[in-house]
Amino acid sequence: MSDVPLPDEQVLRAQDQAHAEGHDYVKGSPHLRHPRLRADIEARLSRLVRDAVARTGGCRVLEIGAGHGTFTHTLLAAGATVTVTEASKASAEHLAHEFAGDERVQVVHDESGTFLLDQAARWDLAVLISVVHHIPDYLAFFRGLQDVVAVGGAIFTVQDPLWYPRRSRTSHLVSRGGYFAWRLAQGNYRRGLATRVRRLRGGYSETAESDLVEYHVVRQGCDEQAIEALLAERFDVEVFTYWSHQSPLLQHAFERGRLRSDFGVEATRRRRPD
Ligand SMILES: C[S@@+](CC[C@H](N)C(=O)[O-])C[C@H]1O[C@@H](n2cnc3c(N)ncnc32)[C@H](O)[C@@H]1O
Repeated sequence: MSDVPLPDEQVLRAQDQAHAEGHDYVKGSPHLRHPRLRADIEARLSRLVRDAVARTGGCRVLEIGAGHGTFTHTLLAAGATVTVTEASKASAEHLAHEFAGDERVQVVHDESGTFLLDQAARWDLAVLISVVHHIPDYLAFFRGLQDVVAVGGAIFTVQDPLWYPRRSRTSHLVSRGGYFAWRLAQGNYRRGLATRVRRLRGGYSETAESDLVEYHVVRQGCDEQAIEALLAERFDVEVFTYWSHQSPLLQHAFERGRLRSDFGVEATRRRRPD
């Protein structure tokens, strides 16, 4: 684990600030707002937990970036014990309060992003829901993560944008057009305009919160094929793709169609190290 670089401190600090007290996780999150997306994630999580319970009699889950614990409840209901990590202090406090007295849940405020680096513990399932795009070097992160997954165990990630250069033009156009319409309804125009001007100039700010928090959303998306290739060295890997949009109208209109915007990964049956 020692060769895993530390996550960018500035990005972690931005997570803390953007997900401060009173943050509304649901507002900008298609997977929390739209019933089909949410139900699909819940079904996959429950199945993965049940599989581990059937195999080993229990399921120790590591849920990274749990937010306010929406899916922690799903994991517990399926029979798991859960270690939740959060980069945001306010969210870690929310989780500690939400699960106070529940011995099945351990809450970790991981402000430095170093929690994984010195863990002797092993988990049967590692879960990242709408988190990978917040991590600048997510491949290095996965390299570290796979070391703490028990033999036979799994990694599940979902709700990250597909690698933009491979996405179809139509999918880009519908996503971007719909996003601007949705963004206009959210207010805070001054920040939105500053971000737009930066993008038109072709640059990113290494200090503006909006360019750091949604790190890969405002850059190139996440490279699902690179993640698949990395995890395939130690797991059986399924990458699944689907349509996701903030706007309820555009979600409803396209979720049964062929357009794809986001992806998830189920990496299962971790093999023994060589
Ligand atoms: C989009 S929210 C998703 C929250 C939750 N998983 C959900 O789906 O409702 C992303 C969360 O990941 C947290 N986060 C980002 N990078 C992290 C990291 N390296 N370690 C732990 N948490 C992180 C953020 O603070 C934020 O709460």
